[in-house]
Amino acid sequence: MFKFTSSVFVASAFLFSNFAQAGLSDCPKNLAFQLTNVFQIGTIKFQYGNCEVDDDGHGYAAGIANFCTGTGDAWEVIQEYHNYTGGNDVFTQYDKVLAQRAEDESGSTSGLSGYCDAWQSAVTSQKFWSAQGAIFDKLYFTPSQTFADNLGLKLSVSQAALYDTAISRGASNSTGSLGGIIKSTNAAFTANTSGDSNSTLKINGYSVDEIKWLSKFLTIRAKYEDDGAKSVNVLSFQYIISKKEYVWTHDIQVLNNEGKPGNLTCDNSYLPYPDQKINSLATCGDGCEGIDGYSSSHSSASTKSSGLFALSAAALGVFAASILF
Ligand SMILES: *[C@@H]1O[C@H](CO)[C@@H](O)[C@H](O)[C@H]1NC(C)=O
Ligand SMILES: *[C@@H]1O[C@H](CO)[C@@H](O)[C@H](O)[C@H]1NC(C)=O
Ligand SMILES: *[C@@H]1O[C@H](CO)[C@@H](O)[C@H](O)[C@H]1NC(C)=O
Ligand SMILES: *[C@@H]1O[C@H](CO)[C@@H](O)[C@H](O)[C@H]1NC(C)=O
Ligand SMILES: *[C@@H]1O[C@H](CO)[C@@H](O)[C@H](O)[C@H]1NC(C)=O
Repeated sequence: MFKFTSSVFVASAFLFSNFAQAGLSDCPKNLAFQLTNVFQIGTIKFQYGNCEVDDDGHGYAAGIANFCTGTGDAWEVIQEYHNYTGGNDVFTQYDKVLAQRAEDESGSTSGLSGYCDAWQSAVTSQKFWSAQGAIFDKLYFTPSQTFADNLGLKLSVSQAALYDTAISRGASNSTGSLGGIIKSTNAAFTANTSGDSNSTLKINGYSVDEIKWLSKFLTIRAKYEDDGAKSVNVLSFQYIISKKEYVWTHDIQVLNNEGKPGNLTCDNSYLPYPDQKINSLATCGDGCEGIDGYSSSHSSASTKSSGLFALSAAALGVFAASILF
């Protein structure tokens, strides 16, 4: 069971910026982040300070994407942080071991005694938040939206589904990862396929309705999920489609991790600042049990293998624009 320790919050002035490329931005991006956070960690907010032994044997999993010592993405975050600190910080003592674990893709925690204490102490630094955000963007969010742009996706729901898949399954082209699922989805279209979304993609030379494409994508993704067609991610996106919530403007109706309807709103935010309006009930309506108890299981994304989960990728320009000292 994935349990969170309390995060240390840092009051700060992150700057919101518009994300230059197409793909998710602003309110729809906020909603996408909240939604995926619910699937991954049972709360709409990113957890910068969480650190614990990974359920799936990938070493320590920590931070907003459950960056793992055994998959290499944690080492990327720490190298990025070293860039901001001049290389002398609480993680320096672990550099040799972390580089080796990343190289070997080893989940061994030997030589990493005190790593989670270090992680939790670093989280008081905005530089560390920026480092997490930069790697989150680089490995997960940006690649997911590049795939979306290349497909010509225009609807928030499909852009968000690609982001969520990158987080859960990695953003590589391998089978079961985002790019592999897209490839299988495209291969399934062998004729023009109309629909009601008013957005038409060009797939294999055919005209394919964007929501018809997304529905197929979700069906194919389900094949790789432990829970198959009952995967909460797949069910919730199918629910959003059933409500015809294609373009997100302010609120969306979703399913929580218990399969109960609830709403997400852009009045809330995925960023865990103390002065932000966060309604912890926002995601679950009447079905809140479990939402704050982190009932969802988690696994970790790998930068090398087609990974299991990887929390988000997101970052939008938000992180990129955030403060480097
Ligand atoms: C850190 O800085 C080096 C040198 O400027 C750069 O090549 C690298 O991409 C930066 N980021 C990481 C994660 O190493
Ligand atoms: C996936 O494959 C496409 C071409 O088939 C390529 O353009 C893209 O860069 C690849 N993406 C990744 C993440 O490897
Ligand atoms: C598609 O366009 C038609 C005609 O403009 C409109 O009635 C319909 O509501 C649109 N559908 C969506 C999902 O936006
Ligand atoms: C598919 O749709 C395109 C227009 O989007 C059209 O030009 C083409 O003739 C259609 N093909 C078939 C087989 O209907
Ligand atoms: C979600 O919002 C819709 C539309 O505003 C509303 O009808 C519904 O009752 C809300 N659901 C929950 C669980 O709060």
